[in-house]
Amino acid sequence: MRFNRRGVAMLATLVSVLACSPADEPTPTAAGQSAVDRRAGAPGIGDPDFPRDGNGGYDVSHYDLAVDYTPATKRLDGVTTIRASATQELSSFNLDLTGLDVREVAVDNAPATFTRQSDELTVRPARAIADGAPFTVRVAYSGLPRPASDNANLGTYGFIPTPDGAFVASEPNGSKTWFPNNDHPADKATFDFAITVPAGVTALANGEPAGQPTTSGGRTTYRWRERHPMATYLATATVGKFDLRRGSTAAGIPNLAAADPKFKSSLDSLYTLSGQITDHWATVFGPYPFSSTGGVVDDYSAGYALENQTKPLYGGFQPDETIIAHELAHQWFGNSLTIRRWKDLWLNEGFATYAEWLWAEHKGRKTAEATFKELLNRPATDPMWAYPPGRAKPDDLFNQSVYTRGGMTLHALRRAVGDPTFFTLLKAWAAEHRYGHVTTEQFVALAERLSGKDLDALFDAWLHQPRKPA
Ligand code: TRP
Ligand code: ZN
Repeated sequence: MRFNRRGVAMLATLVSVLACSPADEPTPTAAGQSAVDRRAGAPGIGDPDFPRDGNGGYDVSHYDLAVDYTPATKRLDGVTTIRASATQELSSFNLDLTGLDVREVAVDNAPATFTRQSDELTVRPARAIADGAPFTVRVAYSGLPRPASDNANLGTYGFIPTPDGAFVASEPNGSKTWFPNNDHPADKATFDFAITVPAGVTALANGEPAGQPTTSGGRTTYRWRERHPMATYLATATVGKFDLRRGSTAAGIPNLAAADPKFKSSLDSLYTLSGQITDHWATVFGPYPFSSTGGVVDDYSAGYALENQTKPLYGGFQPDETIIAHELAHQWFGNSLTIRRWKDLWLNEGFATYAEWLWAEHKGRKTAEATFKELLNRPATDPMWAYPPGRAKPDDLFNQSVYTRGGMTLHALRRAVGDPTFFTLLKAWAAEHRYGHVTTEQFVALAERLSGKDLDALFDAWLHQPRKPA
């Protein structure tokens, strides 16, 4: 409801703004232009549930983020440089950005004009960009970032200032609260970060350090690089006082744990469990997709965690094995394999929830079968059975059914195809779509191919029917 209503209202506003813009009016000399310039990139990437998220007309390959943040004043000064290529001719294109003041925009190093309308930054390069052409866009901006908090079901997310820094967790569409981007998982890109903070404060982003931090004039710059494609909602620049523990897992994956001093006693268990669980998942799901693992515990009482790529972020609690197992399973399911549309969110959350049950099974505490049976005892009136998890609703994206019934779907599949095929399927799924995008239809097709069974009725009952499966 929130997204739909707001989206439709904003779309109407934007269309009228574009239609009134003199540059878009038909002129006898501008061949091929009509009342609304067909060469204007769309203000949404095409997810019907989130019509204003992401943008059309280009594909980002890399973000270079320079962020200067001062916790005491909460001021952020940023320069974002984006490498992209046009997927159509572009007389203008949009980026997503909430609040903050844009000082300057350049396309291929030439000044570009721009307008702001709600969460859309429309950039008009001096000359149209040809279809297929690579281009760079640089945006200089600053201000006081404000988190997104417009949905009771999502709570507060995005760039969240804290007393000693910032807690940055942006799913589903909060990265626009701290840098201009194409804010939808359908467009993944690699990232470089240079985060400058007062000396004594640590900045933690995705991937691995790109060189030692450098300090001058009382400010320290931390450089990080995520060299594998990443959805914008997984990008982080979490800032604050942190104790760190570095090393590597038994299997040799670099491991970095960070904890706010208030959670110092969690640091060793976070480090050890993250290493053990990463290595275990590699035996179940196939090779770990990224170049490092770990986690961050910050003193912000989010009450939740987010699977930020390479560095899950835990908000104000000591994470136990179950939640670490969940967030690290997302590194395969969600982060390496990324949904193209939010409606397929069970491919993230159902898998990560099922991973929790697999971890308990692995530890000999409880089988997934026992968990499944227990949940199957819920009466037909339980709200979980009314919400089909195969179609996450934009006004209730993270509904418990997407997690729990999504996980149950995988167990029902496991029962139907047997353990050998099921576990072969998990690895094949992760391998076939490594670093790519996925849909529910693709998962069903692979399950049918590997099992040789017609599974349409099973998936229909578990994913799509608003009632308890028989
Ligand atoms: N994906 C998270 C999980 O299941 C939950 C989540 C959704 C979240 N939106 C968020 C966490 C925003 C932090 C911020 O682990
Ligand atoms: Zn999750």
